[in-house]
Amino acid sequence: MEKKHLTKATFIFMVAILFVGLHSCTTDRSDDFEDYDIDTDGDGVFDSQEVLDGTDKNNPCDPAHGLGYTAYDPLNLLWLGGDCDADGMNNGDELSLDSNPYGDPIERDLAVPEFLPNLSQLKLFKGNITDFQYNDNVYEYSMITPLFTDYAHKLRVVAIPDGEQLTYKGGGLLDFPNNTIMAKTFYYLNDERDPSLGKKIIETRVLIKKEGEWLVRNYFWNDDQTDAVLDDDVHALQVDWIDQTGTAKSVDYIVPPNSMCIQCHNNNGKLLPIGPKARVLNFEHEGQNILQFFKDNELLAGAPEVSSIPALPDWSDETLSLEERARAYLDVNCAHCHQTGGSYNESFGDNFQFTYETPFEDSNIYAERTQIRDRMNTRISGYFMPLIGTSLKHDEGIALINAYMDSLD
Ligand code: HEC
Ligand code: HEC
Repeated sequence: MEKKHLTKATFIFMVAILFVGLHSCTTDRSDDFEDYDIDTDGDGVFDSQEVLDGTDKNNPCDPAHGLGYTAYDPLNLLWLGGDCDADGMNNGDELSLDSNPYGDPIERDLAVPEFLPNLSQLKLFKGNITDFQYNDNVYEYSMITPLFTDYAHKLRVVAIPDGEQLTYKGGGLLDFPNNTIMAKTFYYLNDERDPSLGKKIIETRVLIKKEGEWLVRNYFWNDDQTDAVLDDDVHALQVDWIDQTGTAKSVDYIVPPNSMCIQCHNNNGKLLPIGPKARVLNFEHEGQNILQFFKDNELLAGAPEVSSIPALPDWSDETLSLEERARAYLDVNCAHCHQTGGSYNESFGDNFQFTYETPFEDSNIYAERTQIRDRMNTRISGYFMPLIGTSLKHDEGIALINAYMDSLD
């Protein structure tokens, strides 16, 4: 009886073992299924998903997540030991120091679109202001054919408010968002043959767009060359430099007063930028087409393929025809006053149309060719052209215009 009982107990025991065994077998198998809800590396993505996505279920930083990510497991040791923003501090230490394990938002240093007393306060430049290093929303640009200003070098920058864009409006002036800054800094290299010998910076002219209107002011650089101050007065100073051929040069440089800015930057009484037209920016500057750069960086809206946008000729490119070069020169150096709405035409009638697009027959260049030649070849103040903005004759430009006028005779 007893034995029987024992046997029965043994039997029950064995059944129990078998059951446990079977059960553990089933548990093992069901563990495989439960893996699908396991997140080994604590990155908030289940292993099953990581397998599907081809990411590493043992690497807390794979897949990568953005700054705002919070679905990680702050108790998981693998995750705590990872360094998901690769800043040299592990996730755990970052959490305990209240910093973001997925990186800290990069502070963008932005320009300030206000006419503050010192140029440095506009934050167009960073570091040492005379090094011309730009802040994060400031872009350098140039013009295929620039305005001649007594052989001064010019650095042109545009500060575009973060997240905003310029808008393409045909080949003419681009449209700028409010709070855009345009600045042009005039300087001379002490020796044109060797820029490392330093420079003399004179003025930084600034346009800022506010509520749809452009405002214009000037900053005059101090003698120490540490900063420039808001200053709307006229200044005259002598600047000396050595040109490419090693010849000593000198100019009585005039910083125009505010009233003069408006004479050139005026169309039908409205103050406007002059340079930033699509056709003037459509060229390669330092290895990159300026319009293409703006497009690629989502800073220019509405523009077609850059190759389909017209381009102003480069007046100094001797492979181009005399007419193309001369018309480009007259466009940039003269047309702001001599076109419909410009300050000459407003007072004296639409006698001249110097813009490049104007067909030759409508420009009146032929009828006025003697006058044009005379006005550019003299230095009689108040008579020579351009009327303001230069003290020196532009020998190369005059030679070009003379050759063009001669070709018309
Ligand atoms: C003699 C005519 C003339 C005068 C005077 C003049 N400008 Fe300009 N300015 C131009 C022309 C032409 C351009 C475009 C060509 C270039 O940048 O070389 C220009 C360009 C600029 C630019 C770059 C953006 C743009 O419009 O292309 C700024 C900023 C500027 N001027 C500000 C000023 C300020 C401020 C004054 C007065 C202190 C002033 N300008 C006086 C003719 C003039
Ligand atoms: C700042 C505006 C301005 C600029 C820039 C300018 N002009 Fe003038 N221009 C005038 C004014 C104003 C007059 C009329 C006053 C006078 O006759 O001197 C004039 C007169 C002239 C005349 C004589 C016109 C006549 O009525 O007989 C010619 C020719 C001329 N300009 C050519 C040029 C050329 C070429 C350039 C470029 C190299 C140029 N101008 C640049 C404002 C300007």
